[in-house]
Amino acid sequence: MNILHVSKAASFDLQISNIAPDKSISHRCALFSLLSDKTSIVRNYLRAEDTLCTLNIVKSLGAEVKDESGILYITPPSCIIEPPSILDCGNSGTAMRLFMGFLSSCSGFFVLHGDKYLANRPMKRVAEPLRNIGAKIDGRKKGDLSPICIRGGGLKSFDYKSPISSAQVKSALILSAVNSKNDMPSIFSEPELSRDHTEKMLKGMGADIRCESGKITVYPNKKPLQPLDITIPADPSSAFFFAAAAAVTPNSKVTLKNVLLNKTRIEAYKILQKMGAKVEFVKKDEKYENIGDIIVQHAPLKAVEVSENISWLIDELPALSIVFAHAQGISSVKNAKELRVKESDRISAVVQNLKLCGIEAAEKEDGYNIKGGEFKSFKVQSFGDHRIAMSFAIAALACGGVIEDTECINTSFPNFIDILSKLTRVE
Ligand code: S3P
Repeated sequence: MNILHVSKAASFDLQISNIAPDKSISHRCALFSLLSDKTSIVRNYLRAEDTLCTLNIVKSLGAEVKDESGILYITPPSCIIEPPSILDCGNSGTAMRLFMGFLSSCSGFFVLHGDKYLANRPMKRVAEPLRNIGAKIDGRKKGDLSPICIRGGGLKSFDYKSPISSAQVKSALILSAVNSKNDMPSIFSEPELSRDHTEKMLKGMGADIRCESGKITVYPNKKPLQPLDITIPADPSSAFFFAAAAAVTPNSKVTLKNVLLNKTRIEAYKILQKMGAKVEFVKKDEKYENIGDIIVQHAPLKAVEVSENISWLIDELPALSIVFAHAQGISSVKNAKELRVKESDRISAVVQNLKLCGIEAAEKEDGYNIKGGEFKSFKVQSFGDHRIAMSFAIAALACGGVIEDTECINTSFPNFIDILSKLTRVE
């Protein structure tokens, strides 16, 4: 088991240009390349455990992947291969759910599995709507838990109103519709817009997808899509750990270079702004998505209530909880039940760990309350969850701390500790 010892940090002014590439977009680049008949070119693909699992699955389904000087050339097979062994999604819910949608539309038999954490995450949210349009999906607990077995093909169109705002559910259904062999359009809607990379990227590849008044209409492909030619920007969710570090460390500032600025992904930075930190967005580029720099500077922080746009914040709430613990007053998170079914139960993990840091925190069914206070040196565990491990590494900058079981950081941000060591001593 890896144990991370992090010392108290002095103030810093740092420019970071090697934040991990965006995880959501990396997964999609690998998978979506299967929808074309030509070679996709992907620069700056995230080489972390989760997205390497997706790339391996794409290879197992018949794609040829060449890595030339760090650039990936992904050539799809003329027809998806029925792999002789299980497809390993590792720790990645995104991989499992997006492949469930895509493979339901491919003829063949496929088995998806992952690690012990993924094996306990709910898949019914995708399995059920896909079954309703004719997919044959099974797994443990009546198809809710992996291993997930799929016999794909022969899907009907749908008009599905998702009860939750989830980009994974939305993407799975859109993929099943784009790749379906029937002629009818499908319609998807969700309570609030979740991250929209799937719609944007597939439209960029030439798919007929129309987004109007909260409804997404997807027309099945008549012909293969255009290949991708993309440079993946830095991941705003990974960058946020260092934004939080600058916000809570007196006299500190960080410049995060070439970050994805999609509005569904930068809400946590807006919460920092609301709490009093100085945050600036400098847009530099636009291809498939807006890209630019984010500058975050410390200022005295005040408590905040977070109850809206939760799906735009879901991955950053653990790191935000550390910022709440530094603010004046009691901050609260509501309507965030989804946190309980992420890589760990993040409501209970955050509250349990903050208490070990000497911070007053109360668990609620759909969120938590956190009272700003004085951190004391601590030892916490990650619960096998990369975002819990990295959030508490940032918490340790205030007072020194130990985080146990930190291998999970490699699922999304393998150079996190290298960057952290520019702020403080890390062993
Ligand atoms: C993701 C969607 C989010 C997020 C996850 C990545 C994606 O989950 O938490 O880390 O790439 O589609 P939801 O399905 O809850 O939106």
